[in-house]
Amino acid sequence: MRIVLPEGYEERTVRAADQALEEGIAQIILIGDPEEIRVHASGLGLKNISKATIVDPRSHEKKDHYIDLMVELRKNKGMTREEASKLIEDPLYLGVLMIKNGDADGEVSGADHATGDVLRPAFQYVKTAPGITVVSGAFIMILQDKHFGENGVIIFADGAVHPNPTENELAEIAIASAHTARAIAGMEPRIAMLSFSTKGSARHEMVDMVVNATRIAKQMAPDLQLDGELQGDAALVEAIGKSKAPGSPIAGKANVLIFPDLNAGNIAYKLVQRLAHAEAIGPILQGMAAPINDLSRGCSVSDIVSMIAITSNQAAGLKK
Ligand code: ACO
Repeated sequence: MRIVLPEGYEERTVRAADQALEEGIAQIILIGDPEEIRVHASGLGLKNISKATIVDPRSHEKKDHYIDLMVELRKNKGMTREEASKLIEDPLYLGVLMIKNGDADGEVSGADHATGDVLRPAFQYVKTAPGITVVSGAFIMILQDKHFGENGVIIFADGAVHPNPTENELAEIAIASAHTARAIAGMEPRIAMLSFSTKGSARHEMVDMVVNATRIAKQMAPDLQLDGELQGDAALVEAIGKSKAPGSPIAGKANVLIFPDLNAGNIAYKLVQRLAHAEAIGPILQGMAAPINDLSRGCSVSDIVSMIAITSNQAAGLKK
């Protein structure tokens, strides 16, 4: 797959591009001044960057076409040619326009930008997949304790994107996470819709929201193995699942955890990462029409290489 890396001057990104090319993980498109990137790569002793396509945001053959596309796609938001001509020189906008125009299959960015800066252009131009209205971010958590989830692997969502989902949106996040479980983690999802209540043990409008989201998700995807509302321990620990939610097909066996909002999901993944020394892979953005993934600014070269591989897999899955 053709993966665009807009941060063509960022050292870890260039090193990761070199490694991805060496290992044949993806075709790489870097954005930036070709001469500057080549000199930088050669100074770092990188031998494979010559195999990358380098697109100069100031002067490339499709620049005018992309500007037209931006104006067309955002005309109801008042996008002018003047504004589009400036935005298209921003690598984060150029990257998503390349995807929108079919010139790239996916994007990895964010080693040098905040999450919102990466997501906004993607939301505006690539938009969501058919039937999905909300993008969310999943983390594949690899635990040291292999008793939980699927041999120690559990998906957490949403840990990165949508602060305050509605019931419908939470149901969509569950369904998108099921797709991520199959396509990226290679496991059949058993989804727990998490709350501070298990099967009516507490009454509150926040609990009702999760109960309703569970019902909507079951209506949207009747074949999915999904249950709620469940507390974290009832979702993960078999004995507690049996006593708190007898008869639930998911309680005690969940390998996908859906959190009721972004506070819960983001705090949970960071706590498990730090306190349980789990590896957290992600955020893997789900629900976009094409795969665009955001990196943490603290990422390593190998994190970026992994994310290029994940993005390439997502792109191949979407093409199928
Ligand atoms: N899914 C799909 N589209 C969305 C979503 C979403 N979740 N959120 C916003 N949009 C769309 C809007 O509909 C709008 O489209 P339009 O311009 O065509 O009408 C466009 O994106 C911009 O929407 P805004 O409401 O202006 O969104 P804003 O730019 O203010 O915020 C953002 C979007 C950046 C994703 C915001 O929700 C955010 O900051 N989320 C949290 C990100 C974050 O900080 N995560 C934690 C850190 S990540 C980590 O720890 C690894």
